Amino acid sequence: MYLPKHVAIILDGNGRWAKSQYLPRIAGHQAGIKTARAIIESAAKTGVEVLSYFIFSSENWQRPIEEVSSIMDFFLRALQTDVNKLHQNNIRFQVIGDLSPFSLETQQRIADATQMTAQNTGMTLVLAANYGGQWDLTQATQQLAKKVLAGVLNPEDITSSLLEQHLATAGLPRPDLFIRTGGEQRISNFFLWQLAYAELYFTPVYWPDFSHDEFMKAVSYYQTRERRFGKISEQLVTHA
Ligand code: IPE
Ligand code: MG
Repeated sequence: MYLPKHVAIILDGNGRWAKSQYLPRIAGHQAGIKTARAIIESAAKTGVEVLSYFIFSSENWQRPIEEVSSIMDFFLRALQTDVNKLHQNNIRFQVIGDLSPFSLETQQRIADATQMTAQNTGMTLVLAANYGGQWDLTQATQQLAKKVLAGVLNPEDITSSLLEQHLATAGLPRPDLFIRTGGEQRISNFFLWQLAYAELYFTPVYWPDFSHDEFMKAVSYYQTRERRFGKISEQLVTHA
């Protein structure tokens, strides 16, 4: 059975999970980090090449200040405690998004972890942090506009593949399978361009309750889909 090369996940439902357990929202995020670790392992074992997590959106800054600062704390602590293990497991680590509002220590840890794991040949883990699909398209457009202004690019030479090469995900395959936990059936402002032909899988399970079995359910769903990319069924080469 063929596997999704790139699985992109919106991990949602931490707050509602916490509420259902009569716990503060922060406890939901703590539980969510444990799930994130477990699913990295599941995806790597399954043979997924790229796993991306939408951990913090451009819009999440609008949450109550205490929640935002706890999430920032957890992010930094996870960078401090988990990167060596990722490296030992041959995982390549990347963070995409506008990193400028993060603390200098966080930015430094991200840069170090990226550099340390850059040559790893196992799964690639991508964290989308202060990321937004609209931000990504905007920053790519700015890069192209600067090149045109500098006289090194003709507007006629801007193709969809050139634009794609300026997105934060340049060099990564597009997501084949998109998963959103927590019951909402939205893409919100995650990968807008990149999800063009992804299979979409939604589950009501809150992220802290998501598990290896739930992950495999999503992969099995993917394997039942026929991906035609605009063609008709008879034109497709069947997978072994
Ligand atoms: C996702 O869970 C956590 C983040 C990626 C910030 P939420 O915090 O959005 O949980 P709900 O939607 O309130 O349940
Ligand atoms: Mg939510």
